[in-house]
Amino acid sequence: MEYLYILCLLAPCYATLNNKKFPDDFMFGTATSSYQVEGAWNEDGKGENIWDRLLHTNPNFTVNGDNGDITCNSYHKYKEDVALVKELNVTHYRFSLAWARILPNGHVDQINEAGVQYYKNLITELRANNIEPFVTIYHWDLPQTLQDEGGWPNSNIVDAFVDYARLCFQLFGDEVKYWMTFNEPKNTCWQGYGAGTKAPGIKAAGIEDYLCSHNLLKAHAKAWHVYDEEFRATQKGQVGIVIDSNWWEPSTNSSDDLEASETKLQFTFGWYAHPIFIGDYPKVMKNNIRRRSLAQGYTKSRLPEFTPEEIEFIKGTADFLGVNMYSSALVTPVENHDVNAIGYEADSEVRDWLSENWKRGASPWLVVTPWGVQKLLRWIKEQYDNPRIIITENGYSDYDGTLDDVDRIDYIQQYLSSVRDAMDEDGVDVFGYTVWSLMDNLEWVYGFTNKFGLYNVDFNSPNRTRTAKKSVGVYQNIIRTRCLVDDCIDS
Ligand SMILES: *[C@@H]1O[C@H](CO)[C@@H](O)[C@H](O)[C@H]1NC(C)=O
Ligand SMILES: *[C@@H]1O[C@H](CO)[C@@H](O)[C@H](O)[C@H]1NC(C)=O
Ligand SMILES: *[C@@H]1O[C@H](CO)[C@@H](O)[C@H](O)[C@H]1NC(C)=O
Ligand SMILES: *[C@@H]1O[C@H](CO)[C@@H](O)[C@H](O)[C@H]1NC(C)=O
Repeated sequence: MEYLYILCLLAPCYATLNNKKFPDDFMFGTATSSYQVEGAWNEDGKGENIWDRLLHTNPNFTVNGDNGDITCNSYHKYKEDVALVKELNVTHYRFSLAWARILPNGHVDQINEAGVQYYKNLITELRANNIEPFVTIYHWDLPQTLQDEGGWPNSNIVDAFVDYARLCFQLFGDEVKYWMTFNEPKNTCWQGYGAGTKAPGIKAAGIEDYLCSHNLLKAHAKAWHVYDEEFRATQKGQVGIVIDSNWWEPSTNSSDDLEASETKLQFTFGWYAHPIFIGDYPKVMKNNIRRRSLAQGYTKSRLPEFTPEEIEFIKGTADFLGVNMYSSALVTPVENHDVNAIGYEADSEVRDWLSENWKRGASPWLVVTPWGVQKLLRWIKEQYDNPRIIITENGYSDYDGTLDDVDRIDYIQQYLSSVRDAMDEDGVDVFGYTVWSLMDNLEWVYGFTNKFGLYNVDFNSPNRTRTAKKSVGVYQNIIRTRCLVDDCIDS
């Protein structure tokens, strides 16, 4: 009791869920990504990607040496996956295309027809079941050949990506109306080329992560313009991007901590959203990184500059904004910061940590803070002039994949309630919500030990048997009633 009381003092209590109906056209969905579920890593002409390479050459990069060679075997079981998606009754299924399955060497001079056919089959199966395909063009699995050419920090990648994106629009655009260029660019760039905690595992923080983002933003914008000029009139779809962030809660209400929260939001969300929705990088990033770079003896900022033409070209290139949000952290300014520390995190001059009072998921970064999603959505609305938003990921991990997943149910209900509050109280334009994930899958460095699925997958069985968890029934019910409580009032 006392524990509960303390929780309620520190954060709003969510004993009661929002009782307003979600709008009739609100999209409820679920998601996966190619490397995490497909398997068939070298079948039917697929090329090697950076995750294949990293986890084959360095198996202890992941817990238990787990990798995506087989994982959920969705390449062979996609019809079964679609049947599960259908059973959920969702409006959309978010999945990603494996670049190296379509283009084994990353370039459009060599197309792998079997890979193209796989995605055509998947999309056809979804359409046949009245499920909207929601397609991520890039979810972290870069063809290894492109990494060998320098990867995201090399500006040659921009045209390689745009050629690939154009091909995707040509091949699949008649049946796909929602495109996302990139999933979580911060994790592609900072974790991939800065912290080295995701493939290709390069540790060049404060340098290559900024080069990566610079190229990625140009690639995103160019792909959006290609769609806009060559495909939109006939295909009538939309192209967005998926950006992730925690909510960064000021650790006190001091002006320093409030400012630290704003700075951290700009360094995480603003890094990508500011160039796309406002133009150019956030001021605080430009200022901090330049000041620190010069003090460190660089002749110019480690953060690359956009030309005025590039700023204009990138601005306005999202028809909708995908937001991945799971968690929160407390923030405060770093006192006596080391001016010589070169790195993206050091550049923010903000320290973050998790409150011990917050309930945790299996993933070390995941704390249950439903109120954070309303705060983040409100901040996004105010910053970027009320964009159309879809929550493209949100979900809860446990260790055992239990079928009696009451913690996941609780998490989904509370976060959805907070999303509904943001729509209701703050007028945030949210048109959909997507549970991560359809099924337990390869959770990157945590391998198969962090389980996010609505469906359990038996990784010990060659059949990779899928079994519904309790959350499936709860989510079906939310979708059918468009309501989180027993009796909703109309919206
Ligand atoms: C990774 O595995 C290699 C060989 O299997 C071993 O020598 C090395 O100590 C391991 N590294 C870590 C960090 O566990
Ligand atoms: C900061 O102020 C807000 C609004 O007055 C309040 O809800 C919140 O609890 C305060 N936070 C802290 C850490 O004191
Ligand atoms: C394989 O899995 C499916 C569901 O995922 C199940 O219906 C079927 O019975 C399983 N087959 C075997 C042999 O386990
Ligand atoms: C699926 O949606 C339809 C239409 O809203 C509804 O009639 C049906 O009961 C739903 N099925 C489940 C399992 O919730």
